[in-house]
Amino acid sequence: MVKVTVCGAAGGIGQPLSLLLKQSDLITHLSLYDIVNTPGVAADLSHINTKSKVTGHVGAAQLEEAIKDSAVVVIPAGVPRKPGMTRDDLFKINAGIVRDLAVAAAKFAPKAFMCIISNPVNSTVPIVTEVFKQFNVYDPKRIFGVTTLDIVRASTFVSELIGAEASSLRVPVVGGHSGVTILPLLSQVAGTDKLTQEQLEKVTNRIQFGGDEVVKAKDGAGSATLSMAFAGARFALNVLEASVKGTSNIVECTYVHLDADQAGAKETKSVVGDIDYFSVPVELGPNGVQKILPIGQLSAYEKKLFDAAIPELKGNITKGSAFITEGAKL
Ligand code: NAD
Ligand code: LMR
Repeated sequence: MVKVTVCGAAGGIGQPLSLLLKQSDLITHLSLYDIVNTPGVAADLSHINTKSKVTGHVGAAQLEEAIKDSAVVVIPAGVPRKPGMTRDDLFKINAGIVRDLAVAAAKFAPKAFMCIISNPVNSTVPIVTEVFKQFNVYDPKRIFGVTTLDIVRASTFVSELIGAEASSLRVPVVGGHSGVTILPLLSQVAGTDKLTQEQLEKVTNRIQFGGDEVVKAKDGAGSATLSMAFAGARFALNVLEASVKGTSNIVECTYVHLDADQAGAKETKSVVGDIDYFSVPVELGPNGVQKILPIGQLSAYEKKLFDAAIPELKGNITKGSAFITEGAKL
């Protein structure tokens, strides 16, 4: 049995993400959890003639049954931004939501691969880590911040400039998932040497603030949902492809605790200094993080971007961790 639970399944991301997951043969049970509307979403999806059984669970009393024995828990639960807000402004509401879902996962699905979408990702992932530590079930190889949308955006925006095929253009994006902490490594992409410094800076800024572009266009009706569902499904299905099917050489950039592969993370730490979490290229395997791969050579411009990112990222990490370590006992 391969059970995948989506927490926040009735939301703007949750619904299309669940639809995309319903198309996968790797999943036998798709469990949809939210505080509203999941019976309807589940009834609707359950009519699709693909392999997985779909169940809907609504409200905290049904959380145990929703999450129990899941192989993967994907969390897009919580509030999205409105124009003028930063992702950190969501912390007040989303930190508690993610904490409560992490507690349920630690109790009822401690071996699940945790894929965290809820913002601010830079802080919500440390929250999940600290919850799992308190329940003595922590394994840094199994907890992921989903930054795939940054990768998806980067390949779209850069391919428009250099004339490459977007779907096959791999653009590494490392760091965190908010503004200046998003670090596209364009110097590593063949064809970007044709771009002027001005073009490089413009497209870098567009990747870093791509989320704001959508928030502004939606004008109060939320943030990216459809592109996020695409990116979230790609990430969760790659985790399953590597773990359930044992397919090798699957690499995704994802925000992890660097203890997930201390030897592999040495190169990253030699560049960024002592930081606990960073989005890095990760080879996925049967147990989650198989290997942290090098972030590679940086241009002088990218080094400057790193200098701006690290203090903000460290602050976000401390804030997330402290929410649990200095909070009430769970
Ligand atoms: P949304 O408001 O459309 O949906 C959120 C869903 O979460 C709602 O259905 C709501 O009922 C549910 N929810 C609220 N509290 C819950 C709880 N305690 N348990 C379970 N479900 C709960 O929002 P959205 O547009 O789907 O965005 C969700 C989150 O994803 C936001 O925090 C947003 O910032 C984030 N996001 C992250 C990325 C990324 O790249 N990581 C991209 C886009 C959005
Ligand atoms: C994104 O990058 O689109 C998400 O993090 C949502 C947001 O708030 O921008």
